[in-house]
Amino acid sequence: MKNGITSLAIAVLLTACTGSKDAPTAGRAAGATNLSTPSAAPAATASSISAGESVYKQSCSACHALGIAGAPKIGDPEAWAGRIAQGMNLLYEHSLKGYNGTKGVMPAKGGNPSLSDEKVRAAVDYMAGHSR
Ligand code: HEC
Repeated sequence: MKNGITSLAIAVLLTACTGSKDAPTAGRAAGATNLSTPSAAPAATASSISAGESVYKQSCSACHALGIAGAPKIGDPEAWAGRIAQGMNLLYEHSLKGYNGTKGVMPAKGGNPSLSDEKVRAAVDYMAGHSR
């Protein structure tokens, strides 16, 4: 009986000890993971798909993939040559601020105001680059 209590006490002590040693380590590891995940994830995405491509797919392809509503279709050099010839700066400006053209209405930032200017320019580069 005495032995039983002693070994129980040791077991409890060991458990408590192990528990208190592990807990802070696990906490720190989890904390580190939580901190690094949000910043690491976009970087990984950016390297596997270009930022321009992902913005294009999310915000521009609805019109530009098929040439909906008068939008110049991606991959159609005829639709793009004249536009690219105007210079990339004008294409950026039209994409950022939107404009009414002869074919239809290009909404500012493709109708997604939460996009940064940089991302919109990357999407323009992506579309123009695939339409030469
Ligand atoms: C609601 C449909 C729609 C969406 C979404 C859209 N566009 Fe357009 N876009 C148009 C139309 C229509 C035109 C052609 C307007 C014209 O020339 O008459 C156009 C034209 C353009 C041009 C050519 C500009 C020029 O000066 O000739 C660029 C560049 C462009 N869009 C970029 C984008 C980018 C980048 C996105 C996503 C962030 C996007 N568009 C999303 C409809 C859209």
